Amino acid sequence: MSIKHLLETITVGGTVLKNRIFMAPLTRSRASQPGDVPAALNCLYYTQRAGAGLIITEATQISRQGQGYAWTPGIYTDAQQAGWQQVVDSVHTAGGKIALQLWHVGRISHSLHQENGAAPVAPSAIAAKNSYSFVVLPDGKPSNEPAELPRALETAELPGIVADYAAAACRAKAVGFDFVEVHSANGYLLNQFLDINANQRTDAYGGSMENRARLTLEVVDAVVAELGSQKVGVRLSPNGVFNDMTPEASTEMALYLAAEFQKRGLAYLHIAEPDWAGGLALTQDFRKALRASFKGTLVFCGGYTAEKAEALLADGIADAVAFGRPYIANPDLAERFAKAAPLNTPDANTFYGGAEKGYTDYPFMA
Ligand code: PHB
Repeated sequence: MSIKHLLETITVGGTVLKNRIFMAPLTRSRASQPGDVPAALNCLYYTQRAGAGLIITEATQISRQGQGYAWTPGIYTDAQQAGWQQVVDSVHTAGGKIALQLWHVGRISHSLHQENGAAPVAPSAIAAKNSYSFVVLPDGKPSNEPAELPRALETAELPGIVADYAAAACRAKAVGFDFVEVHSANGYLLNQFLDINANQRTDAYGGSMENRARLTLEVVDAVVAELGSQKVGVRLSPNGVFNDMTPEASTEMALYLAAEFQKRGLAYLHIAEPDWAGGLALTQDFRKALRASFKGTLVFCGGYTAEKAEALLADGIADAVAFGRPYIANPDLAERFAKAAPLNTPDANTFYGGAEKGYTDYPFMA
């Protein structure tokens, strides 16, 4: 079948992208140590994938407090910034475009990641059930440990969190990222504030939908102040249950936020659909309602094939579709789609950690 819509260029916030096949953000846990610094191996990985219309980087912590998994990269030290500079320059030289995903995990963390062994932070002191933080234990063994009981952030601490996002956005701008994506999905800090159960606050950041959305919008506004709205996207995961999120009220929240993002003229809205992470599938009516609320670039992600993605674009519901696991195994995924070439199969054993194997050694088309 033809995938002509997927192969069309698209202008996102004034930036021309060569196609509508985006690379989804993917945790790969291969930042160089110590210091969680992107290095030559990560540079090669992203550069191999420069055929995507837009690469969205793996989730990248904005602060030490925001880290929940060992070996994920940060964007809060000079060394990390310099590492990302190599990545961005190399992707640009290869003709690609790249967005940095800004991440604070909130309660999906562990005291082993925190300064002085402190408790992780969250909207409320409620542990996430069936949720894990990846740590290196004191004896050197890597381990998935249950996310610990967090402490509730004081109201007076929230401006500091917003400032950490702004500082990370400022570094992203200095590096020359084409966009910054605010991660407000998948049960991490901003999503915890949106959630009706994880957030039991009684201040201006809890209770009503508007209050639960406040921190996400303050972060968006702070990032926009650094970069301009045309360089900012947001990721949401309505109906998602990963990391102990509550589906109830989450689609209403997404529609409210979509309208707020529209008011701000954001470049794009990126919807992580329930897929690998579980949850009830989105309805086509809900996707259409998002389309009606947000006129910027609308991106869906989660288990799409080229055919399903093309249909969503042809129906005018999406502007682009992001692909995760297919991009792990196929550095030239867009080129393969264009030629209807067969795809390599991803190997789940090498998704996280390690080196070249399962990261930069998947073959290109012959
Ligand atoms: C993960 O590392 O498991 C992870 C990170 C970011 C997401 C989802 C999962 O949005």
